[in-house]
Amino acid sequence: MYTDYARHYDEGQFHFSVLMYDYLQDVLKLHEPPGRSLIDLACGTGTLAMMLADSGWDVLGIDMARGMLREAQRKARHSAGIERSIRFRRADMRDWTVAEPVDVVTCCYDSLNYLLEEADLQATFAAVWAALKPGGVWIFDINTPYFLEHVWQPVEVEERDDYAHVMQTTFHPERCLSTLSLTGFARQPDGRYERFVEHHAERGYAEADLRRLLTAADFTIEALYDCFIFTDPAPNCHRWLWVCRKI
Ligand SMILES: C[S@@+](CC[C@H](N)C(=O)[O-])C[C@H]1O[C@@H](n2cnc3c(N)ncnc32)[C@H](O)[C@@H]1O
Repeated sequence: MYTDYARHYDEGQFHFSVLMYDYLQDVLKLHEPPGRSLIDLACGTGTLAMMLADSGWDVLGIDMARGMLREAQRKARHSAGIERSIRFRRADMRDWTVAEPVDVVTCCYDSLNYLLEEADLQATFAAVWAALKPGGVWIFDINTPYFLEHVWQPVEVEERDDYAHVMQTTFHPERCLSTLSLTGFARQPDGRYERFVEHHAERGYAEADLRRLLTAADFTIEALYDCFIFTDPAPNCHRWLWVCRKI
């Protein structure tokens, strides 16, 4: 996953990071971190990481997909000349450490839904906890089970000048799992279209299970919001925003 699609990701998905960047400004005012160092876990093509670095954060972006990191590094190089503190590193979010603990860890845009077992979440929460300074803040969004089951369209088509894709999603209620196949068609320099297929899977977790796993990892849960606003999530909320602290 995120191999061929990585080159086409930003055109369709960039706007999410812009929305999340604005929202995070308010979240971080309400849940103040001790300082300005941050890890963006599953940073993808690095858009959010770069926006944060451009506003004065010292940022490390971590992702597992080589193609996504290649795009992130290309974008960071492209805007060379701008003073920013940003690095990228390839790692699995379930298994990584840092030498210097940081003030904030973020993980955005469904990335935790890509962890398909509770043990994966446990390992990730433990790694985040170890990477935070005391008082550090752990912020992540996650698609809700309601969204995966009732809202995610079974077929989505995106068409641009030189690229098109079809996403077909199937929901498996017994595991609260959405499997998705993405068939992309990318125009080549000679005008022909190259076809590629990627398979993705996202799992939904109940609120009570996330609470249990976060608490077991020693986090204090400061807030659970309906993502992009500051109200308690309704039962039909599409995306949660969790804010936790390492006390
Ligand atoms: C929907 S993208 C979100 C990317 C980015 N956070 C954004 O807002 O655009 C999900 C990202 O999670 C990454 N990812 C999935 N599983 C991962 C894992 N086990 N470790 C690290 N990254 C992972 C993928 O490579 C991909 O970049």
